[in-house]
Amino acid sequence: MKTENNTHENIPEHGEHDLPAPADVARAKKLAAELERHNYLYHTLDAPEISDEEYDALFRQLVEMETRWPSLETPNSPTSRVGGSVLESLPKMPHSSRMYGLDNVFSMEEFADFAQRIAKIWHEEGSGASPEDFWCDPKLDGLALEIVYLNGQLAYALTRGDGEVGEVVTEAVRTIRNVPLTLRGNGIFPATLTVRGEVVLFKKDFEKLNERQAAKGGKIFANPRNAAAGSLRQLDISITKSRPLRFLAYSAGPCDWGKFPPCPTQHELMALYKDFGFQLPPDGKLCHGLDEVEAFMRKTHEKRPDFPMEIDGAVAKVDDLAAQAILGFTARAPRFAIAYKFPAEEVKTLMENIEIQVGRTGVLTPVAILKPVFVSGVTVSHATLHNEDEIKSLDVRVGDTVVLRRAGDVIPEIIGVDYSARPDRALPYKFPTHCPACGEPVYREAGQAYWRCDNMACPAIRMRSLIHFTSRAGLDIQGMGEKLVAQLVEKGLLKSPADIFILTEKDLGQLERMGPVLAKKIIANIAQAAKKASLAQLLKALGIMHVGDSLARMLGQNFTDLEALARAGIDELIKLPDVGPEVAASIHDFFATPANQVIIQRFRDYGLWPVPQAAKSVADGPLKGKTILFTGTIGMPRHEAQALAEEAGARIVSSVSKNLSYLVAGENPGSKFAKAEKLGIPILDEARFIEMLNESGIRAGK
Ligand code: IVH
Repeated sequence: MKTENNTHENIPEHGEHDLPAPADVARAKKLAAELERHNYLYHTLDAPEISDEEYDALFRQLVEMETRWPSLETPNSPTSRVGGSVLESLPKMPHSSRMYGLDNVFSMEEFADFAQRIAKIWHEEGSGASPEDFWCDPKLDGLALEIVYLNGQLAYALTRGDGEVGEVVTEAVRTIRNVPLTLRGNGIFPATLTVRGEVVLFKKDFEKLNERQAAKGGKIFANPRNAAAGSLRQLDISITKSRPLRFLAYSAGPCDWGKFPPCPTQHELMALYKDFGFQLPPDGKLCHGLDEVEAFMRKTHEKRPDFPMEIDGAVAKVDDLAAQAILGFTARAPRFAIAYKFPAEEVKTLMENIEIQVGRTGVLTPVAILKPVFVSGVTVSHATLHNEDEIKSLDVRVGDTVVLRRAGDVIPEIIGVDYSARPDRALPYKFPTHCPACGEPVYREAGQAYWRCDNMACPAIRMRSLIHFTSRAGLDIQGMGEKLVAQLVEKGLLKSPADIFILTEKDLGQLERMGPVLAKKIIANIAQAAKKASLAQLLKALGIMHVGDSLARMLGQNFTDLEALARAGIDELIKLPDVGPEVAASIHDFFATPANQVIIQRFRDYGLWPVPQAAKSVADGPLKGKTILFTGTIGMPRHEAQALAEEAGARIVSSVSKNLSYLVAGENPGSKFAKAEKLGIPILDEARFIEMLNESGIRAGK
């Protein structure tokens, strides 16, 4: 739309400024007011009276006058919307009163409970009839903002932050076209007006923004809220200015009304905001009684797709502001307002295909490939179908129109099929009999939901295993994420986890977006991770079937190194806690496989050969060979206490059983305490636990 080009013609040389005549001052003031009026007509009312060219001509006149006479410039001049500055940081500032969130209800019954709570509090604390009028408006899904006006002039603006302290975003807010810089009116304004509301990007503007971003290879935003937040919290104000943000006002913070008549109700506050030049959330309405509120909520839900911005519910606020003050706030939220959150949005889209993903353990997972669709604020193009039985029970076929929602508004899931829209040619899905990655036959054991590929050489399994090996769940090699590992595999540089330790800076240098500094850093990270790894961590990284966190820990405590574990027979393994025949066989098979033996030898040659700390230093003491469980809060961090207990030869377990040796109980212990007491398990406090550590020769103390 308007270009607002800042023309710098006729800029006087330094020292050349003359003073404006009173007529010039008056003219500049008039021009500024005129520009703000046209701005309001265009951006807030969507009803311009002049063409963009005429607006630009007026704008240029003001720029020229302010350039010639800098004394004419004011912080809230329409020219301040140009937004050329680049800030160093966003300073923080406390709100004059806390910006609360809202409590949610998810049904009309819950809403009725809310209304009853109000009646009850009113009965105890108020007088007269309890409030029955509610101002209702849509719940906008953007980010909350506070703008403070002093005598009608925009003074500063803060994000919500943590509710107590926000970030100062005044410069950015000035560029939001529908924010009045000077309040509209007759010149009499509240001394301090604290306007609160939401910054949003309209859906159509969000789509255009992402198209623009894609065209220039920039960041694609997941949803309008993220895009709005990213745009407002910019240091480079010209970026904020280029994003068509809007501010919609819905409540007031502390105000000093001064000579201005104070506002008695929410609906009058909204009318006043409108007169002052603010845009309001659409469709706001004063509702009398619960039935009207309920009708409003239902209608807003029905009309959700038609709103120009994302909304995720409707808000009801007690209309009488004095009653609002009496009802007050809980620790979290106002007692006088509630958000009715819509149930998860359901949309229909075409399922174009079903793809099979092969995971690290060889499990085949079917994934629905969808025609991209916008649901609950994000574009979804994939959804898991879990397994063969799920496909059968949904009777979902390629070419079907499926019903989709985001479970808990996060993970996309297919909840149904529109059978009436099924094309004639759509056939029942046949689960593959062979692995799509390696072509070997797949199998499904009786009683299991999953089909598996058990080809040790399957490229998909290898890739996922390597990704697991370097990930946080494995050796946690910093900088070696999924994309990097995938590239190394593609280039043939990584075939087994042992190859990681012979990578060179030159190898990494061949990859996309990899400079020499980063390559050097990653090589150093690899060496460091190898040095730091514990036996338990390495066992977990290897991804042996059935060996998860706690089993890896237990094995790490019972064996001195990988070789000792590899030598253990099934009989020996089965004697260990939590190891049954299936687990014992899995561990045994892993170490009996020649390819794995080669990998382990290569680890050893490289120096990736962890020796458990506990095995080296376990002293004879009261904790040796005992099982121990922690509950409640103790003085030292839980993981530290666990590590010390392990060092003293104890084994950490996660549940109370009659075999538990000790329960260490801190403050606010939960149900584990009661259970242990019932079973007669010895319960230690932290002091006694520390004493026992000391008796084991381990130094510990608060
Ligand atoms: S009224 C005292 N009205 O939703 C609080 N809030 O999830 C008065 N929100 O942080 C707030 N749309 O910023 C109100 N129409 C609306 C709203 C709204 C969105 C925000 C609000 C709050 C959040 C709670």
